[in-house]
Amino acid sequence: CGIVGYVGKRNSQNILIDGLKKLEYRGYDSAGVAVYTKDGLQIKKSKGRLANLESKLDEAPLEGNIGIGHTRWATHGKPSDVNSHPHTDNSSKFSVVHNGIIENYMQLKEELTAKGHVFVSETDTEVISHLIASLYEGDIVKAVQKAVTRMRGAFALGVLTEYEPEKLVAVRLSSPLIIGVGEGENFIGSDIPAILEYTRNVYILNDGEMALLTKDDVTLMTLEGNFISRELFHVDWDIVTAEKAGFDHFMLKEIYEQPKAYRDTMGARIDAAASKVVLPEIGMTPEQIRSIRQVHIVACGTAYHAGLVGKSVIEHLARIPVETDVASEYRYRSPIITPETLVIVVSQSGETADTLAALREAKRCGARVVAITNVVGSSVAREADDVIVTWAGPEIAVASTKAYTSQLIGFYLFGLYLAQTLGTAEATYIEEVLRGLRELPEKVERILEQSEAIKEVAEQISTHHSLFFIGRGLDYAVALEGSLKLKEISYIHSEAYAAGELKHGTLALIEEGIPVIALATQDALFEKTVSNIKEVKARGAQVFGIHMEGDTELAKAVDEVFAIPQTHPLLAPALTVVPLQLLSYYASLALGHDVDKPRNLAKSVTVE
Ligand code: G6P
Repeated sequence: CGIVGYVGKRNSQNILIDGLKKLEYRGYDSAGVAVYTKDGLQIKKSKGRLANLESKLDEAPLEGNIGIGHTRWATHGKPSDVNSHPHTDNSSKFSVVHNGIIENYMQLKEELTAKGHVFVSETDTEVISHLIASLYEGDIVKAVQKAVTRMRGAFALGVLTEYEPEKLVAVRLSSPLIIGVGEGENFIGSDIPAILEYTRNVYILNDGEMALLTKDDVTLMTLEGNFISRELFHVDWDIVTAEKAGFDHFMLKEIYEQPKAYRDTMGARIDAAASKVVLPEIGMTPEQIRSIRQVHIVACGTAYHAGLVGKSVIEHLARIPVETDVASEYRYRSPIITPETLVIVVSQSGETADTLAALREAKRCGARVVAITNVVGSSVAREADDVIVTWAGPEIAVASTKAYTSQLIGFYLFGLYLAQTLGTAEATYIEEVLRGLRELPEKVERILEQSEAIKEVAEQISTHHSLFFIGRGLDYAVALEGSLKLKEISYIHSEAYAAGELKHGTLALIEEGIPVIALATQDALFEKTVSNIKEVKARGAQVFGIHMEGDTELAKAVDEVFAIPQTHPLLAPALTVVPLQLLSYYASLALGHDVDKPRNLAKSVTVE
């Protein structure tokens, strides 16, 4: 979910809507605003996209200089008008927007119901507004502080009351929240782009902190009420990077931005003259690196898939055993984490609750944590010991593309860095991989020039209900990402299988005409993969193969081929995934889906 808030001299409604547009990537099941007007606190909310709320507001605008807004990704209660935020209490004098989950809301709800409170929604958030109302004794800050002591879970809040209509209260506990400081106006937002049009000066709230905003002041304090002083953070990047720049969709723009993202992420980190990687952001001494006994890579979704490639890269280059886990499983499987474990968390947003929880668990057990993230100043970046920033720029489309490939670059750089320090790879080998890395951006450009060919395959695929992706080794890791991408935005069911494993299970599902996308870029595994391709061909599959330029064999075994430019086998994922991204994009387009905002998903999920 995303939250915004405004207090100042301007009319708040449009500022809230602008902010919500920038936050829609965090959820778009419903949206709402509360504004203090001459008739008191007024709430307007609507199920579905923000546009629905906008048309409601066009018909009957809300006028007032203070307000809060919310865009929802449903957790408790289905997407509906009544479950949308802001929520209020029975007196309608309080209004709350909330991002996160209140774990003990059922218990609070029962207590409040016994006291006569009547609830209209199924949400945990409504409980907060009732709780605050029940604790209010003339000071909204104190009422919020008391309420928070009763609430368990992770949350960020924006609170208004009609009794003190000049005050906006903001709270952060494990869900991100920033404060924008303007002249005669102040803002809250779930992230910086939400307010960047209005100010570049922000305070980043830490967990357990809150703020009282009036139009002229921002007071920061702990949840216990101790005042905090903090330097303003000046944002020096631009909002333009978050616009579509002539592309039909953010996803396509972001796919095309990959050559730049690769170059920016490598940047000065490759010293070509010395043939080595320089990572000053890694604060580990060579002794500390030598003491690493195992690496755990932890992430969610697409970032997890980058972690699967990361595992092969680090094991291959640095010869340290690596395990890759999805974050929501890692923390609860009592992993064996010791001070000799290096934990690498991967997160585009740096705010994913599952990943953050895993990071904290790793630190609690004494591990050193390296983060690979795209957002400087995010929670993950701030809490990790070392941070490798992927310079992909803001990623808006829900389906991750340039963030994933930049994470791969992050892993290549870090893997090489470990190998250099540990002496686990020959200098000439490192040199060869580095050369390959530097050539990647131009090779991605060559793939992008052939997008029409992919579009045709995508259109064929879009008529099917189910398909398979197969590959071995690194190709299997990419197959998983290709399959996820397709499912996310085209809603076509697909399954990624390790090519050699297919015969042990789902080969039963291969029937006449079913599309199979076979990745065969890894020389050492090529023949084995071709045998597996023959197995599916023999059962009637239509196979679309992806191989490396120079190979003449694959075309004989499949129906259609697409060649990625020649590269070092370790680096192939950074190229192979690009046609798969285009494939999902064009399949989704052919089916008429909302490419950038697929149903049920959100870009940044800040609940566990
Ligand atoms: C959400 C998104 C996925 C993303 C995952 C992890 O579920 O829909 O696309 O991969 O979160 O996000 P992160 O920001 O941690 O990389």
